[in-house]
Amino acid sequence: MATFLTVLGIESSCDDTAAAVVQRAADGTAGIRSSIAHGQKDLHRDYGGIVPEIAARAHAVRLDSVTQQALDTAKTSLDDIDLIAVTAGPGLIGGLLAGVAFAKGLAAGAGKPFLGVNHLVGHALTARMTHGVAFPYLTLLASGGHCQFLAVRSADSFLRLGGTIDDAPGEAFDKSARLIGLDQPGGPAIEQCARCGNPNRFALPRPLSGRKGCSMSFSGLKTALLQAHTKIQAEGDPTDSDISDLAAGFQQAIVDIFVEKSCAALEMYHQEMGEKPNVFAFCGGVAANQTIRQNLQTLCAHSSVEFVAPPLQYCTDNAAMIAWTGAEIYQPGQSSGFDLKARPRWPLDERNIPPLLGSGRKGPKS
Ligand code: KG4
Ligand code: ZN
Repeated sequence: MATFLTVLGIESSCDDTAAAVVQRAADGTAGIRSSIAHGQKDLHRDYGGIVPEIAARAHAVRLDSVTQQALDTAKTSLDDIDLIAVTAGPGLIGGLLAGVAFAKGLAAGAGKPFLGVNHLVGHALTARMTHGVAFPYLTLLASGGHCQFLAVRSADSFLRLGGTIDDAPGEAFDKSARLIGLDQPGGPAIEQCARCGNPNRFALPRPLSGRKGCSMSFSGLKTALLQAHTKIQAEGDPTDSDISDLAAGFQQAIVDIFVEKSCAALEMYHQEMGEKPNVFAFCGGVAANQTIRQNLQTLCAHSSVEFVAPPLQYCTDNAAMIAWTGAEIYQPGQSSGFDLKARPRWPLDERNIPPLLGSGRKGPKS
C-alpha cells in the first residue's frame, strides 16, 4: 500500500481505553494496522453504571500501556507516526481530559502534530474506513449516549435529520437489562437472552410511532418493561423464560422503532439532498446487534439502498475510528494547538438548531 498518512488514534471518552494505528493511502483506502481497546466493565460492575471518576483514573493509568500495545501490534514506533488523533469530545470530561493531556504530552515529546477529533464523527465515518463508502450517505448513529439520523455530506459536514428526544437506545438497553437482572453492558446481554424469548408475549409501546419525521423516544419503553417485570414478580419469582420473553419484547420494540424511523429518514434524506442515498450506514455500539442489523438490511433491500454495518469491534468504541477521522480531516499545518480543550458536549450538526433532547436528558454524551 502506498502510504499517505499513518495516524495513531487515542480514545478515552467513556469506559474504553483505546489506541490504534491506521493508515490512509493516497487512493483513500484504509489499513487498520492495530486496534487495542481495554474495557473497564469490571471496575464499574458494583455500581450499576459508569462512575466518571473511576473511569477517568483508569484511563490515566492505562493510556500509555494501551498505546504502546497499539504501536507494538502495528510493528511501528512513534517515529513513524505522522499524526496523533485524540477524542476531544463529546463524552465524560475526566476521560476526555486524560486522553487529551496524554496526546499533548506524546505530541510534545515526539515532536508530532496532534488533532482533537469528535467521537461522533469517528462513529459516523467508520463505514468509510471499513467499507470505503463514498460521500454523501445516510447514517443511523446509535450508541450509549446518542441516537441520530445524519446525512453525511463530507468528513466535516453533517445534516441532522432527526434523533432521540430522550434516552439513547444503548442507554435504554443498559437500563432495561439492569431492571430485569441482566449484566452490563445491557445491549449484548439482552441480545443473548432474547435469542430464546417470545417477542410478542408482552405488549410494549413503540413511542412516536405514526408521527411524522424520524424523531425517536426510548424512555417510555424502559418504564413499560419495568411495569411488565413488576407484574410478573407479583405472581412469584420470574423464570428464565419470563426474562427471555421480556428481553425479546424489548429488543423487538427497538427493531420496530428503528425500522419505521429509518423509512422516514430515507425519505427525509431524499427531500433534503435531492436524491436517495446510495448507502445507509448503521454505526455506534447498538449497531453490534445482529437482529437489528438484519431488520435494517431487509428494509434497505426493499428500498434498493446498500446497507453497511461495520464489523462488531468497530461499532463499539474504538480508537481506529478516531485515527481514521484524523486521517480524513487533517490538513498539514492545521493541527490542534496546545490550548486544545476537551468538549463534553460537541454536536455534529453545528447549525444553530434547537436540541432534540427533552429536558430530562442527562446521559454522558448528551
Ligand atoms: O458506541 P459505544 O461503544 O459507546 C458510546 O459511544 O456510547 O456504545 C455502547 C452502547 C452500550 O449502551 C451497549 O449496551 C450498546 O452500545 N451495545 C449494544 C450491543 N453491543 C453494545 N446494544 C445492543 N446490542 C448489542 N449487541
Ligand atoms: Zn461511542
